[in-house]
Amino acid sequence: MRHRVSSSLTMGITARPPPGGTCTQSSERRVAAMARGKQQGSADMLSDAGTGRLTMGGGDVGAARERSRRRRLWTLFLLLLLPAAYLWGRLISGDPLDIFDLSLPSIDPMLLIPALFFLALIAVLVGSTIGAGRSPHVTYRPEQIDVTLDDVKAIDPVKDDVVRSLNLFLAHKAFSSEMGGTPRRGLLFEGAPGTGKTHLAKAMAREAGVPFLFVSATSFQSMYYGATARKIRSYFKALRKAARQEGGAIGFIEEIDAIAMARGGLSMTAHPTTSSSSVMCCGGLEGLPTQYAAAAPGIVGGAQSGGLVRNLAGMTSEGVGGVVNELLVQMQSFDDPTGFQKLHTWFVDKLNLYLPAHRQLSRPVPPSTNVLVIAATNRADNLDPALLRPGRFDRRLTFEPPTKAGRRELIDFFLAKKAHHQELDAEEQRDSLASVTQGYTPVMIEHLFDEGLVNALRRGDQAMNRQDVERARLVEEVGLGQPVAYTEHEKELIATHEAGHAVTAWLVAPQRRLEVLTIIKRRDALGLLAHGDAEDVFTRSREEMTGLIRIAMGGQSAEELFFSDISTGPSGDLLYATNVAAQMVGAAGMTDTLISYAAVQGSALSDTNLVGRVLSDKDGRERVERILQEQKSHTRALLHENRHLVEALRDALTERHELIGREITDVLEEAQKRHRELLVDVRTSAAEGATTLGG
Ligand SMILES: Nc1ncnc2c1ncn2[C@@H]1O[C@H](COP(=O)(O)OP(=O)(O)O)[C@@H](O)[C@H]1O
Ligand SMILES: [Mg+2]
Repeated sequence: MRHRVSSSLTMGITARPPPGGTCTQSSERRVAAMARGKQQGSADMLSDAGTGRLTMGGGDVGAARERSRRRRLWTLFLLLLLPAAYLWGRLISGDPLDIFDLSLPSIDPMLLIPALFFLALIAVLVGSTIGAGRSPHVTYRPEQIDVTLDDVKAIDPVKDDVVRSLNLFLAHKAFSSEMGGTPRRGLLFEGAPGTGKTHLAKAMAREAGVPFLFVSATSFQSMYYGATARKIRSYFKALRKAARQEGGAIGFIEEIDAIAMARGGLSMTAHPTTSSSSVMCCGGLEGLPTQYAAAAPGIVGGAQSGGLVRNLAGMTSEGVGGVVNELLVQMQSFDDPTGFQKLHTWFVDKLNLYLPAHRQLSRPVPPSTNVLVIAATNRADNLDPALLRPGRFDRRLTFEPPTKAGRRELIDFFLAKKAHHQELDAEEQRDSLASVTQGYTPVMIEHLFDEGLVNALRRGDQAMNRQDVERARLVEEVGLGQPVAYTEHEKELIATHEAGHAVTAWLVAPQRRLEVLTIIKRRDALGLLAHGDAEDVFTRSREEMTGLIRIAMGGQSAEELFFSDISTGPSGDLLYATNVAAQMVGAAGMTDTLISYAAVQGSALSDTNLVGRVLSDKDGRERVERILQEQKSHTRALLHENRHLVEALRDALTERHELIGREITDVLEEAQKRHRELLVDVRTSAAEGATTLGG
């Protein structure tokens, strides 16, 4: 399978081999396509564009490029013809030109120096004026880029669509003349930072085989009034010119939101975090963990994806309107005539004034230039809606954080390049890494391994192991561990609290994976339990939601059981539990009400988040309180029954300070086993005692 993919990539832009074909069939097709070469019929070309097998030299772009190459050669030939004829004539007339004998006329330096000075002055003035309006782009040739489509992992749907757009771009003439379609003019890449927008654009640049004009939207900005619009104009002019010269050109505008914000009003959409892995941080009163704060609008997992917060606020920015308008105009400028064509038209118009109606010359039709503009942004909802209408950036491609399979692919891809121990080659290790990195973008996964390598170096090793990666993940997600000297009592309290969480999680939520249990202080958390879904999940059942509340209550319940008192530690837990409970009551209809508090609009309540809406309502508040109290007493009873587990984990924690992955479950399983043996022992000795008594 892989062989087929890479083999078809070498000849054109192909993300996938055509469906239903074997290795040999695919290479036969390739040979056939090569044989067709540049004479490829437009019908073939179109069908190839659909299935993703278009060759670089074959499409309309290749043909146009060949035409302009020949035209250039002819121009050069004609230009050289005149001097050659002159030299040849002198040679024939017996007076050949000796270029070594040519002497420059002598000029008085007193005249030359002031003349040069004024020339330099004029050059500086003209240069700075022209420079202020110059296009800030950088042109890349395919061979200058080392990223190929093969290096783009885990975003196959987007990649496929991009390949289709590229194929259409290459076969644009056939597509518009045969099928009457309008080729795509603009693609908008939207997605969180690090999801691979620039990466994919680079790969496209390499595969497209036409000049790629990279520009960062911020570089259009200028302190001179009107210069931003001029720079945008020059950029599009450069694009059109490159497209005319090479049969096509692709423009890439990075972070387009810098120049394309909505005019007049700004609409913002906050995407709540989609990570379903949560960290039970337990700190002082003021130490509310950031995870909870971020999760507040639409807490835990599935329900979040629907939790868009749209906030319209009037905001205008000086000059934005003009710049956006320029962009709108330029996006439609691809059929603009060149300077020469304008002159031609002017000439024809003037001539037609003297000609009778039936002898009028026809005005030249400007040929359309084949340009594809790609813009990348992570704030697509802020863009001016006019830019997104069909004909401009009409194709929106969303870059999502990769799925579990995608992350696995990325892990394989990055680990192939980074030094690691053999343990990280094991299938289950890689699968488990893919599981624990839910919500990570590709760049975060790459960074995780880089940090893992740094940890390995710190250990004095040249390759990383799982522990190094796990430590890096902890630092990434929660923060750097800070050595603080807890008092003996505090240490025991924190260890008991964390053990309470972990034991509850182990007992009530077997589908969750216990990742890290630590009593080392990190940021605001004195200790923490990190636990996540074993698989990627997009919805949650009531059982799972109550499970999450119980896990949160585990810490406080353990404190009560073992110390008959509670500390400020659980404040973060209660925040989390309240969020989950409010979600159950106010949005998910998981209690005895089906009302969605999220639907409230235009009232005093609608000014706040879901938790605020639920809690401001007397009934809602009672329901939340009831859920929390019920789950807490349930958790207390559970931990009371399983004191031995809490004790075992507490002791392991006070001794080792940090348990990672299997180390946590090992302690629990061991304690459970010992407890069962003890029970059996007690029962047997009791039975024996009874027999002795009876005997
Ligand atoms: N799909 C991917 N496959 C492989 N590497 C990727 C992918 N996406 C991102 N990366 C890595 O992450 C880095 C940053 O990605 P980039 O494209 O700059 O993100 P952004 O979406 O912010 O433009 C890239 O240089 C590349 O190393
Ligand atoms: Mg980028």
